[in-house]
Amino acid sequence: MAVLTILNENKTFKDAEEITSALAVHGIEYERWKPAHPVADNAPPEEILSAYSSEIEALKERGGYVTADVIDVNPATPGLDEMLAKFNREHWHDEDEVRFIIAGHGLFHIHTTSGAVLGIEVEAGDLIRVPRGTLHWFNLCADRRIRTIRLFQDTAGWTPHYSESRVDENFQPVCFGMTHFAMTS
Ligand SMILES: [Fe+2]
Repeated sequence: MAVLTILNENKTFKDAEEITSALAVHGIEYERWKPAHPVADNAPPEEILSAYSSEIEALKERGGYVTADVIDVNPATPGLDEMLAKFNREHWHDEDEVRFIIAGHGLFHIHTTSGAVLGIEVEAGDLIRVPRGTLHWFNLCADRRIRTIRLFQDTAGWTPHYSESRVDENFQPVCFGMTHFAMTS
């Protein structure tokens, strides 16, 4: 289950419906896809895409997405730190950032148009849609692993544009749901 923190207000939400409502105010879409399909989280990409095909097709229709893929980022990924460094600074894209989490964890920070900063920790079963143009940045959690389904309107639009605001430097990339993991591993 995701954890949403509205950092300026020191408010934390752990209930899926509350998270959905609180994020909708800022134009961010959050859903739990339940029950998750019985496919192993290390299954080949085509099996994952096939298992979730009805959800993917519904999303494509809603958001005009034309393609979907599966990415796997883990401590063994070559160039992991360089890859992460592209996304842990405030940026935006010319298309939506759509992620359904299959395994692992991640932490999105959203810098809203009203100036609030939201921290959204995601894990398996969470869908997040960050609309094009939204200022955000992303970090992995202590497990340094995330496997997600991604959807694209046009993969060329997913290049990051950096704001160079350095707002991201004011926020620790702490995954609250991972505290136990971090302390015991
Ligand atoms: Fe991004």
